[in-house]
Amino acid sequence: MNPKRIAAERAVEFVKDGMIVGLGTGSTSYWAIHRIAEKVNEGLEIKAVASSRNSEDMAMQLGIPLIAFDEIDIIDITIDGADEVDRHGNLTKGGGGALLREKILAANSKQFIVIADETKRVELLGKFPLPVEIVPFAANLTINQLKRLQCDPVIRLLNGKPFMTDNGNLIVDCKFESIPDPEKLTKQINTIPGVAENGLFAQMANKIVTGYNDGRIEVK
Ligand code: 5RP
Repeated sequence: MNPKRIAAERAVEFVKDGMIVGLGTGSTSYWAIHRIAEKVNEGLEIKAVASSRNSEDMAMQLGIPLIAFDEIDIIDITIDGADEVDRHGNLTKGGGGALLREKILAANSKQFIVIADETKRVELLGKFPLPVEIVPFAANLTINQLKRLQCDPVIRLLNGKPFMTDNGNLIVDCKFESIPDPEKLTKQINTIPGVAENGLFAQMANKIVTGYNDGRIEVK
């Protein structure tokens, strides 16, 4: 059994009739969106908002009813993946380039449920380069400021060209030795002018559902 799939499908059990549901982005969220669509086809009544154009397109194709952000005050539950999850439940996200919208959804959700396979569990964050979304204007100056935080920042490319987010921004992947204090680093990065958001989700998750290769599922 695919560990991403079993974690995603377990998390979807928390989705109930009447909820506004935030849809994550990435290959683990793919399974959650598919399971939600199956339940909608079986009669589950929900409305969804998406963290990326990809997930929105997928939801539309699968028949999940979508609702505009200006029609809602709060999201009941968001289910999303992560690139790393440390032992305190802090996350690195943004491998798929959707971290800004993902963080807006997470911050406006009553429940933020993270779905991950066992490879995402780490002692300390930092092996996965931290994605930071920056505005394209004077990007080199913003990158110089990121370097002062003792990291090695690299502009993300797609097919040889700078990757553009759904918001028209760039992603800079910042390699740190390790990230022992995600809350502190979040503040340091987000006070740099030109930074739109960073991929650290410190103490934001309400539940973490981990799928293991042997079929076990842990909900914490
Ligand atoms: C996208 C994300 C994803 O949730 C994260 O990259 C995990 O992706 P996957 O489920 O494909 O491993 O943050 O911006």
